[in-house]
Amino acid sequence: MKRIFSGIQPTGNLHLGNYLGAIRNWVRLQGEFECLFCVVDLHAITVWQDPAELTANIRKTAAAMIACGVDAERNIIFNQSQVPGHAQLAWIFNCVARMGWLNRMTQFKEKAGKHRENASVGLYAYPNLMAADILLYKATHVPVGEDQKQHLELTRDIAQKFNTDFGKPVFPIVEPLIFGPATRVMSLRDGSKKMSKSDASDYSRINLTDDADTIALKIRKAKTDPDPLPDTVEGLADRPEAENLVGIYAALAELEPEAVTSQFGGWLFSRFKEALAELAVERLAPVTAEMNRLQADPRYVEAVLARGAERANDLAAPVLREVYGVVGFLGRDGAGGT
Ligand code: AMP
Ligand code: TRP
Repeated sequence: MKRIFSGIQPTGNLHLGNYLGAIRNWVRLQGEFECLFCVVDLHAITVWQDPAELTANIRKTAAAMIACGVDAERNIIFNQSQVPGHAQLAWIFNCVARMGWLNRMTQFKEKAGKHRENASVGLYAYPNLMAADILLYKATHVPVGEDQKQHLELTRDIAQKFNTDFGKPVFPIVEPLIFGPATRVMSLRDGSKKMSKSDASDYSRINLTDDADTIALKIRKAKTDPDPLPDTVEGLADRPEAENLVGIYAALAELEPEAVTSQFGGWLFSRFKEALAELAVERLAPVTAEMNRLQADPRYVEAVLARGAERANDLAAPVLREVYGVVGFLGRDGAGGT
């Protein structure tokens, strides 16, 4: 049986990278598999979050998932901190994962930067919590963008070590699902950096809440080089900004990048950007409208999350009971071992 798990942090506006790299793929997987989609607020607080903003962002992120087409009935949409098993299993994984493994995590190095000594312990241990998110449900497949690949390798290592240490095949070895034409959408201001919620410049990303004029303005201002578009994808080599815009167009139009270069080869970027802005607005406008509608009804979103947490808890409880027994803890009913 396949079970899908994926998560997204409620740390700001969801952007085109989140949509094309992750959520759009979730929509494609729903119905085919049992899916859990989680707003990972425990991950968010690994860096400082203003409490009131965090609360608003949790609702907003859940609303964005629903607005993008993730069905709250067919899937379990929930909020991480409402299911205590995530933190409980993460502690056990803190004791399974090795320092050396975490020392290799590039995302920690990027996020902590020069201020490593001042980073929270949570930011360092974050990949263990991510492994717990997935393995609490014995999920087998995890659809994410390219940037999460290393964390999923760590999840596999943790599962393997746990199974070996305790001599029982408790956890599956998860498969990353990194697919689609936009697994790594880059910043509109710098083709060497990924589009991110935490970039200081709002011009670096297209938010799912941006209106048509803002989207058009951001695309018009996007960095490009002076040459016209090439007529083959090979011509995009060493032109990261051009490659990114062609990639975004291809992903939104559901075309191969080759089809985009052959259609627009020879065009000046100013003209191509107009076509791109028109397409982006056309694709994102329904999502934005639905997000606005949902945001006006926070009780509905809260009810979806509460129901999701209940369903997630029902799936997590027997796994946690099994793990506690395997580790040698007494269960809540006082019974020990398995
Ligand atoms: P985050 O915004 O870090 O919570 O990421 C949520 C999901 O979006 C993860 O599956 C990421 O891999 C994916 N993602 C984030 N940024 C990008 C990007 N620039 N391009 C493609 N996927 C992304
Ligand atoms: N670490 C992921 C990110 O920053 C979010 C995340 C947390 C996640 N737990 C997860 C993704 C479990 C997939 C599965 O994008």
